[in-house]
Amino acid sequence: MTMIADELRKKYLDFFASKGHAIISSASLIPNETDASTLFTTAGMHPLVPYLLGEKHPGGTRVADVQKCVRTGDIDDVGDNRHLTFFEMMGNWSFGDYFKREAIEWSFEFLTDPKWLGLDKSRLYVTVFKGEDNIPRDEESIAVWTEVFEKAGISNGVAGDDERIGDGIRIIPLGTDDNFWIAGATGPCGGDTEMFYDMRPEEGPLSGKFGDLVDSFRIMEVWNDVFMEFNRTSEGAYEKLDKPNVDTGMGVERTLAVLEGKYTVFETELFQSLFVKITEISGCGYQDSVETEKSFRIIADHVRASVFMIADGVTPLNTGAGYVLRRLIRRAVRYGKLLGIKNDFTVSIAEIVIENFGNFYPELAAQKAVIISELKNEEEKFRKTLEQGLKEFNKTTHSFQINGMEHILIKDGVQPIFESELSGKVVFDLYATYGFPVELTREIARERGIMINEKEFDVEYKKHQDLSRTASAGMFKGGLQDQDENTAKLHTATHLLQAALRTVLGPHVSQKGSNITPERLRFDFTHTEKMTPEQIAKVQDLVNEAIRADVPVICEELPVDLAKASGALGVFDAKYGDTVKVYTAGEFSKEICGGPHASRTGELGHFRIQKEEASSAGVRRIKAVLE
Ligand code: ALA
Repeated sequence: MTMIADELRKKYLDFFASKGHAIISSASLIPNETDASTLFTTAGMHPLVPYLLGEKHPGGTRVADVQKCVRTGDIDDVGDNRHLTFFEMMGNWSFGDYFKREAIEWSFEFLTDPKWLGLDKSRLYVTVFKGEDNIPRDEESIAVWTEVFEKAGISNGVAGDDERIGDGIRIIPLGTDDNFWIAGATGPCGGDTEMFYDMRPEEGPLSGKFGDLVDSFRIMEVWNDVFMEFNRTSEGAYEKLDKPNVDTGMGVERTLAVLEGKYTVFETELFQSLFVKITEISGCGYQDSVETEKSFRIIADHVRASVFMIADGVTPLNTGAGYVLRRLIRRAVRYGKLLGIKNDFTVSIAEIVIENFGNFYPELAAQKAVIISELKNEEEKFRKTLEQGLKEFNKTTHSFQINGMEHILIKDGVQPIFESELSGKVVFDLYATYGFPVELTREIARERGIMINEKEFDVEYKKHQDLSRTASAGMFKGGLQDQDENTAKLHTATHLLQAALRTVLGPHVSQKGSNITPERLRFDFTHTEKMTPEQIAKVQDLVNEAIRADVPVICEELPVDLAKASGALGVFDAKYGDTVKVYTAGEFSKEICGGPHASRTGELGHFRIQKEEASSAGVRRIKAVLE
């Protein structure tokens, strides 16, 4: 069956409206500014977290929506069969209203009833949570599915621990990796049940291990019903929610692929008009080669994502969400260049995106002029950069043949191509002098079999960051020297603050964000309740005590393992390189940090908390000053 996206969204929303759901429109791709935990909305549940934690939703206890989402963590996977940066997630929600039975029965009805999607029920398979980590097996979902399948007259066997399908098995219990859903480390979560569709019944009865059948695309996931019964705390405990919720997620793109019998989202109707345009501009066909296929997919995905981001107010920049946007546009342009496209082209593709999605997302039409001008500017800027940078790259690395073997000349040395290494300084110069993005240097280097000395690059990059921080600090009122000193003192105060919070509130407190201007510090940390005035006073006193003790702030460079073993606080999985700087302030604090810091705590003066407030679910924010 073929269905266009507009029809699918409408059916979904109509179906859930008929089951008493209020239809709400998609929230912005940019999370509410009090939520500092992610740059973009990454799942339908993201904007609804407060309601999953018990706040009243104005639409009532049942809502349904189609939410715009962006996931950029796996940008290098874009172009394979399953990964998109921008996607739309349809979802129906119960805020303490219905639970497993209704959610499962409605999922089955929507998927299989000819009035709705009309999928063949005998090709449907489901996974459920098998119980792990002291959370019991989801017997209720198993019982409901068993009954639903029985009523529908299809087999309903439950798989064993071998996770094998065959002989009438239709329900597969799996562990936390597959069937337990949480967005990030903490927050509302629970076991889920996922629905899969057999894509190639012509190959005979489905049989084999569940994971293998997914990997070979014999079955594809269409829908995930999450039964949110717990709130995971920062200490890793699962607290039972007062009222359980339902959060479901059904990807528009993936569902269209299943309905159209296509293995990849890129072969659905959603991408066809974009591909036709790319062919028109480049003269290449989508399936001319593996390379053209990849380029088409990346261009289409990235332009689509860029259009939606700009419509929600993002502009290309060198930091944060703006940097992701800049990277997407530039990557699209580069892949266009690989297809031989000579002129600016992103706007012509964006126009089709706006036309295709404009009905459902009126913000695209409303922001059309901005979308077009941002794309045009960024593409022009980047083309210039690209030309200069590539010339420079080619000057630095020049490949040629010796005795029939490919070799490469990097600066002064000649090396066989697969053992060549580009110095971090060269990579950095390409970036700093020519604005050539490091990711692109990496990608081109990889294509040419050249390695990049990442460690050297990190060192150069850090030097640059400190310099630019100093430069921008200079733009504030007052002397540059003073601003730097204040910043260093506030850095030290932040360490003392975190230590004091852990003493007063408990060891579950961990840093979620920190932002320092020459005037104040801002610190986000995991803690669920509002702090009492007594707690705030106690924290303030502890910090001031540490200041009065006037202990030296000592910096040591330690290998990550040792730093961790020494009990230093810090984010250990972040990009810290092999050794890290550990700053110790007497008995008060020990923390990994890039610095700079005051040399003694006594220099800090007096510490005062100005404000304590909620930042996002489970995260509090403190603003404080030194006087
Ligand atoms: N929140 C669930 C998901 O994103 C439905 O898969």
